[in-house]
Amino acid sequence: MSADRLIVLLSGPNLDLLGEREPAVYGTATLDDHVATARSTARGLGYALEHHQTNHEGELVELVHSAMGRAAAIVINAGALTHYSWSLHDALAAFDGVVVEVHLSNPGAREPWRHTSVVAPVADGTIAGFGGLGYRLAVRAAAELLAGSRLEHEPQVPASGAAR
Ligand code: DQA
Repeated sequence: MSADRLIVLLSGPNLDLLGEREPAVYGTATLDDHVATARSTARGLGYALEHHQTNHEGELVELVHSAMGRAAAIVINAGALTHYSWSLHDALAAFDGVVVEVHLSNPGAREPWRHTSVVAPVADGTIAGFGGLGYRLAVRAAAELLAGSRLEHEPQVPASGAAR
């Protein structure tokens, strides 16, 4: 598998419990269901998708390391590590490829401690609040960024002082 055709999907703590964990917040689909969605989306766009889940911060950092030079993009739902893992932030900062952050729920609309993401500053973008659909959107976003469409869709920021 050439590095430019591989997307690595990483899942952090407690995501292995999806399906039984707080279904009112996270839905009833399992992690396997979301991985299947992500994989079929990736395949349809010409990418292979590799998935890993861990409940351990250091292991997640090592999984980011192991994507280096092997993958074109990382799609990551870091679970609660999103909100405080600076070692994960630093590992993602060292990854030379596209990074898309994904969440099933919308952390910005939940408890204040979830409002900060230390992943966001080192991600190309974040998809949150769309439930399982988010995995399809996240893989799509990664593939489109890799295809260079970001340039075409770059927001046009008005020059300072320009009339709106
Ligand atoms: C989550 C949101 C996080 O705040 C939470 O700790 C999770 C799941 C989500 O997918 O909505 O474990 O990342």
